[in-house]
Amino acid sequence: MYKKPFIAGNWKMHKTVSETIETLEELKSLVKGVSDRTIMVAPPFTSLSDAGKLLKDSNIFLGAQNMYFEDKGAYTGEISADMLLEVGCKFVILGHSERRHIFGESDEIINKKVKKALQKGLTPILCVGEKLEERENGMVEEVIEKQLEMGLKSLTKEDVLNIIVAYEPVWAIGTGKTASPEDANSVHKFIKDSLKNIFSVEEDKSIILYGGSVKPGNIVGLMEKHFIDGVLVGGASLSPVDFSKIIKF
Ligand code: PGA
Repeated sequence: MYKKPFIAGNWKMHKTVSETIETLEELKSLVKGVSDRTIMVAPPFTSLSDAGKLLKDSNIFLGAQNMYFEDKGAYTGEISADMLLEVGCKFVILGHSERRHIFGESDEIINKKVKKALQKGLTPILCVGEKLEERENGMVEEVIEKQLEMGLKSLTKEDVLNIIVAYEPVWAIGTGKTASPEDANSVHKFIKDSLKNIFSVEEDKSIILYGGSVKPGNIVGLMEKHFIDGVLVGGASLSPVDFSKIIKF
């Protein structure tokens, strides 16, 4: 199991290769010597190879933002698990709400990706989260439960021990609106309880990240909460200074 707190950065469609190198060099020096937490960044595909070389033997793990579930073949525009492993990825973000809602990824597809990642030895970071109208209609637990059940369908306890779940309420992503630490904590508890009920994974063995407008100014309040094991940071992970502040909260 990876060390907690677990602080991950999702760069989304930002940064060219040269910008990636510049950012990671600065980040590396800012977090040099930090050994009491897990740090991960997920640059875009084109930057992964250079990022992998730069982060080798550092305290920052490399992740990808997506992958396809087939090993190889006629899948124009897609990237396989082996391709990610070869450039040094240890993690892959799967089922991000932007993949679900902009690119139409279903829970079935996400489940296939999770299984392939596990089979290949990549650690999936499975994202779940409700939309604003679902929250307003009191459907948070129902939505999260379905995403977990379908995303983790036919996996074993052993598999689930090798998965990280990120709770990212869709209305809090990139909007500046964070879920209150109390609200996030209660959904995290629900996720941990579900993993326990379905897979017998003990609460302290799972890693559940919060994502959605995490910034240097709100990280402490979030991380004080018992069931929040770390964060998945979008916008603020693009700045090495801000991201290092979040890492060293
Ligand atoms: P944000 O993105 O921090 O920019 O809100 C979080 C995410 O989508 O992972």
